[in-house]
Amino acid sequence: MLAIVTGASSGIGRDIAKKLADRNIDLILVSRNEESLSLFAKTLKVKTKIIALDLSNRQNCYKLYDMTKNEKIDILVNNAGFGSCNQFSNSELITDLNMIDLNICAVQILSRLYIKDFIERDSGYILNVASSAGFTAGGPLMATYYATKSYIIKLSLAIYEELRRSNSNIGISVLCPGPVKTKFNNRAGVHFSVKPLLSEDVAKMAVEKLFKKQLVIIPGLLMKLSYVASKILPLKLQLKIAYKIQHKKKT
Ligand SMILES: NC(=O)c1ccc[n+]([C@@H]2O[C@H](COP(=O)([O-])OP(=O)(O)OC[C@H]3O[C@@H](n4cnc5c(N)ncnc54)[C@H](OP(=O)(O)O)[C@@H]3O)[C@@H](O)[C@H]2O)c1
Repeated sequence: MLAIVTGASSGIGRDIAKKLADRNIDLILVSRNEESLSLFAKTLKVKTKIIALDLSNRQNCYKLYDMTKNEKIDILVNNAGFGSCNQFSNSELITDLNMIDLNICAVQILSRLYIKDFIERDSGYILNVASSAGFTAGGPLMATYYATKSYIIKLSLAIYEELRRSNSNIGISVLCPGPVKTKFNNRAGVHFSVKPLLSEDVAKMAVEKLFKKQLVIIPGLLMKLSYVASKILPLKLQLKIAYKIQHKKKT
């Protein structure tokens, strides 16, 4: 089997790639940093190809597909993403637009292009890395990030139902972790407000559940409870709680 993992140079993407390699799955590793991808690739015992591209540029998403469309891709892991913490009115508009390009547009383009090939073969797996941020009412102080992850959850759920109705064998899963110890916080400019999960544990669960074609993957009891809370608490109460959590993470 052959998998493409975006954002494979660090954190959750890197650990998902490792877990796939443990199952003898060959890899195409993508991120912006060629050097860290190639150092990582050297540690793996499967066939790897590295592709350094900035996926927040739409043309690069098409380029990635063009560079790989002749290989039989079995698994697409849309993992590359970042967040940023600020009051919406003070946020850097350019950063937020770049986040939308990476967290949403890249996932949209890559899923749409590869799913056509998967449908033709009636096989393949898509793993979209969203966040538990995506099922809460909204994320004051990280408004754009929460909204991007909400989009990814809704997109994945809808694709699942379309595939199910056409009796497709393709699996689509959406991973919704809470805080995970990676480089994410450095870029987002936040600290942890609760004990983070280990990226390796999250990746292990994600890969196991991906092959079981589990639709929504929520690692950790706390985030499972937070999912339930998002279904029963009034929206305004959820927003107050989310603000407090985000404010604590910022300070
Ligand atoms: N950590 C958490 O608490 C947490 C919780 C829930 C969900 N998530 C989600 O998990 C995913 C992975 O994040 P992480 O926590 O593992 O963070 P991370 O350690 O910062 O890894 C992010 C990965 O994305 C790549 N990347 C960033 N910008 C890119 C771009 N423009 N084009 C291509 N690749 C790019 C980075 O590589 P380069 O810098 O080399 O490009 C890196 O490999 C994200 O979608 C994030 O939203 C994280």
